[in-house]
Amino acid sequence: MKIATLRRIAVALVVTLVCLTLASCTGGTSTGGKTLVGISMPTKSIQRWETDGENMRKGFEDAGYATMVEFANDDTAQQVSQLENMINKGCKAIVVAAVDSVSLSSVLEQAKNKGIFIISYDRLLTDTPNVDFYVTFNNKKVGSEMALYVEKTLDLANAAGPINMEISSGPPSDNNAGLIYGGMMEVLQPYIDSGVVVIPSGQTTAEQTAIDNWELANSQTRMENLLNGFYTDKKINIAICANDTTGRGAANAIIAAGYTPGAADYPIITGQDCETASVQYIIDGKQGMSIFKDTRTLGDQAIKATISLLNGTAPDQNDVSNNKVFDVPTYNCDLIAVTKDNYKEVLVDGGYYTLADLGL
Ligand code: BGC
Repeated sequence: MKIATLRRIAVALVVTLVCLTLASCTGGTSTGGKTLVGISMPTKSIQRWETDGENMRKGFEDAGYATMVEFANDDTAQQVSQLENMINKGCKAIVVAAVDSVSLSSVLEQAKNKGIFIISYDRLLTDTPNVDFYVTFNNKKVGSEMALYVEKTLDLANAAGPINMEISSGPPSDNNAGLIYGGMMEVLQPYIDSGVVVIPSGQTTAEQTAIDNWELANSQTRMENLLNGFYTDKKINIAICANDTTGRGAANAIIAAGYTPGAADYPIITGQDCETASVQYIIDGKQGMSIFKDTRTLGDQAIKATISLLNGTAPDQNDVSNNKVFDVPTYNCDLIAVTKDNYKEVLVDGGYYTLADLGL
């Protein structure tokens, strides 16, 4: 054999060896021989999803996996193409928090056909048989905890009313939105029925009160319109808002309309996620409460469930969630209501934020 040919074979052998030892070379993605896991988050525009994505990236990598992390900019088409890319790059499992709970069916089918495990993260993937596990918080409880805070703070059980309330829900494309609304109404509907709580705008359903994309600006604009349209001769007493961005949007509109945080007639405003900006609103009296959902715990559960599935064992489960096709095995993490009274203990002593994170 010619020397040149021998040299070419030797080079090819070295390249193959390097490729095998340093990378599994799945579709061009170097994984260093490690199993590749996809992490598909809906957006970076809300603080928590960046934290969720980063926690899971680190957790999976610490556990010896390679990761691909993508954020979909609240755009379903973008999320579909990011998921297709994860499938093509050879992911063996994908953790998905969907922009739109119902719209991923066809890409999930592609994943399933390749034997990829799908873990639904925080938001249930509905209308599909192609989901293996769901990790979340009890979203109905998120809503009922907000409403219980309102009920207790205003002593609704002994109040004569009328107490004026407006609701801000999440968009119907997010399966959580309806669950949160359901939890709120379970507590508040009796007070609405008895006339203690009234909704001057008449906007009462989950659809009528939905804030597009959960966006702060959309919530602020809607609240400005509600105040201009229905509150020229009365005060708003409750703005029950389904998350922190919608809560801050409502608060901004309410403050701009002349209400003073801390004053007796300042309304009760709710939220969830304990975003740093909202904890500052709580400290400043602009928002009454938020729900703390520890995304470290959720991420850990997602990682554990994924590793179990990859190892062929059943993940820890404490619930099921019907996704309109079947009862998806579920792990629900704990949540807690946070107010001015306990934010330091829960968030700072619990190591979630430093005082500096909260501007303190
Ligand atoms: C999540 C909330 C979040 C909202 C907006 C919901 O599905 O459960 O934590 O605030 O989406 O991103």
